[in-house]
Amino acid sequence: MIDFHIHLLPGIDDGSRDWSETLLLARQSCDDDVTHVVVTPHCMRENLPLKLQERDAKMDELRNRLSDAGLSLELIPGLEYYADGHSSSIAIEQPGSRCGLPSNSEHNPMLIELPFGVDLSFASNVLFNTQLAGVPVVLAHPERYAGFVKRINFFKELLDKGMYLQFNSRSFKSGLFNWAIPRVMLKLIDYCGNQVLVGSDAHDSQFRPAGLRHAREKITSAFGVRGWEEISQSTPRRLLGLQ
Ligand SMILES: [Fe+2]
Repeated sequence: MIDFHIHLLPGIDDGSRDWSETLLLARQSCDDDVTHVVVTPHCMRENLPLKLQERDAKMDELRNRLSDAGLSLELIPGLEYYADGHSSSIAIEQPGSRCGLPSNSEHNPMLIELPFGVDLSFASNVLFNTQLAGVPVVLAHPERYAGFVKRINFFKELLDKGMYLQFNSRSFKSGLFNWAIPRVMLKLIDYCGNQVLVGSDAHDSQFRPAGLRHAREKITSAFGVRGWEEISQSTPRRLLGLQ
């Protein structure tokens, strides 16, 4: 299984606070049968080159630490780009700003986060402009934006335009935020399941832990093992350029 969104690296954003927490999150991932994680620190346009340097250095160190700890977890570079009202052109032009291996660089997607409470009509401009620049777009946790439940047709339009939606695993946990959210996420999967991805969006091992258990349970029960494999394996492999 591939976790498409995790704040695993220590001290780079509001995710893991130190290396011991990072290893706890890695262990949670492995215990939940996650084989690959896309490492997605928060980034904004102002600090992008420095953040990417820091990400790459910490990923190298983490690979060594995972090996020392006997944990088998593939790390794939990524970031969660905060589109704060400006165009995403700076991020598009910055090497290493997409999610995936350099060997697939032309096709690698960008994981985009929007301000909460954003006017979704504004959001569509940023997303479409990114797509027009030839970059596959993955919208991070759409279920967390205001109006998600009432605007299902808006998200269907994004899918119609070829964009991808990344749902957080814990949002499938009934009643955690809003009882209607899991229902709408399942409707969107039913509408276009091969443009949906899942991530833990883990920040810490206690309150926002790693693993994809909640998504796996709900998606498997609604769409069977094949449906879950498509979302947790085939689609992310295709997007990330993995064999
Ligand atoms: Fe995140």
